[in-house]
Amino acid sequence: MSNEGKIEKVAVLGMGYVGVPLAIEFLKGGLQVWGIDKDPEKISILNSGGSYLDDISDTDVRNALATNRFYLTDEYGVLSRVDAVCICVPTPLTKLQEPDLSYVIEAVDNIVPYLHKGMLVVLESTTYPGTTEEVVLPRLSRTGMVVGQDFHLAFSPERYDPGNKKFGIRNTPKVVGGVTSQCTTRAIELYKYAVDTVVPVSNARTAEMVKLLENTFRAVNIALVNEMTMICERLNIDIWEVIESAKTKPFGFMPFYPGPGLGGHCIPVDPVYLSWKMKTLNYEARFIELARSINSSMPRYIVEKVGDILNSVGKTIRGSNILILGVTYKRDVSDIRESPAIDVISMLTNKGAEVSYSDPHIHRLKVNDSILDSFPIQERGLGNFDLIIIVTDHSSFDIEWIVKEGALIFDTRNATKDIYEKYRNKIIKL
Ligand SMILES: NC(=O)c1ccc[n+]([C@@H]2O[C@H](COP(=O)([O-])OP(=O)(O)OC[C@H]3O[C@@H](n4cnc5c(N)ncnc54)[C@H](O)[C@@H]3O)[C@@H](O)[C@H]2O)c1
Repeated sequence: MSNEGKIEKVAVLGMGYVGVPLAIEFLKGGLQVWGIDKDPEKISILNSGGSYLDDISDTDVRNALATNRFYLTDEYGVLSRVDAVCICVPTPLTKLQEPDLSYVIEAVDNIVPYLHKGMLVVLESTTYPGTTEEVVLPRLSRTGMVVGQDFHLAFSPERYDPGNKKFGIRNTPKVVGGVTSQCTTRAIELYKYAVDTVVPVSNARTAEMVKLLENTFRAVNIALVNEMTMICERLNIDIWEVIESAKTKPFGFMPFYPGPGLGGHCIPVDPVYLSWKMKTLNYEARFIELARSINSSMPRYIVEKVGDILNSVGKTIRGSNILILGVTYKRDVSDIRESPAIDVISMLTNKGAEVSYSDPHIHRLKVNDSILDSFPIQERGLGNFDLIIIVTDHSSFDIEWIVKEGALIFDTRNATKDIYEKYRNKIIKL
């Protein structure tokens, strides 16, 4: 225990995919929780007992409000009274594909006027190693207060996996690294309210690097299996059968699956933070760059395959009617950030195809300068499409019915694996 007194009040800055579940978990741990977001609309939805997130229901929000310990605001003044604040704001890339820390900097600058003795500040946003010490600390130190003595500062990577029913905030171990050892101790005290297992590391830089290792590991392995897919195509081997068989090895192998490209706010973005940092140190992060190049080429590869598939039935992309099934970056979420489906639609449209999409999670989609409405697959004939491409295999899709109705199916996710043999004359797998 530190000598700062018990943590009772915490603020979570950024009520997004990460911040809301974390705030609710702190509530369940018994803390008083302030959710702060600069977007007044989000605050108003939450305050009225509604949710805009897939994994949080309206009931979850209403239950949280009913504790009378959950307060929502778009103002920062309350920070003068909280024991700790967790920063969960976006860390995207700029147009030039460089880290955009503007949200983090704005959040920290908003904390500065309210920094007080004993306060713990934790950065959760994914970022390059060194951010907490090099970007956040100098701003907080301008108050004249000393880190580790007057206030505490730590980094704790968010491992939240949207849509994951098995692992949530509480049963996913949480890594924390303080700028000083006192800071680490204080951060452990805080997270014990929200997670079962806290994993302390030596410092904030190490904690920042843990997250980047985890996400680079995913990006590199997905790139490897995507390349294996292109290799298997040339060798006339089914990559999906290869993976299923390889994963029977009980040690030393972990399955990753190919797909139409990387999406979401994390895997395509986070490794770029690390490679950017390394460029400033004159080091080229080769695995990251290679993985990025392979993964980002996948939508183009899909479009090339579409050309081959249509060609095999005497058609061309130009003039074909194509239906894209699923446009979110992964199944059963409503997040389209960095979704490869958008690139696929854009490329097919530019080549002259008539492209429609259907996604129960996304009713309207902007691609290039056009607005598309989700096609109601249950209502109209799927047989009119020259090709149906399964880009995102939402569990609500009745795959067998779709395959039965459709003329030709291109399955980029192995969603048809249980019925492939029965319909193999009309299914083409990635
Ligand atoms: N979404 C995920 O699955 C996931 C998983 C692990 C880590 N992360 C990381 O967590 C961080 C947050 O991601 P997210 O998906 O929750 O983002 P998000 O866009 O869903 O939510 C961020 C929220 O922060 C608010 N915000 C921005 N600047 C603010 C400010 N100065 N003050 C108050 N609020 C502000 C925005 O209005 C938004 O509501 C990112 O660094 C991301 O890489 C995300």
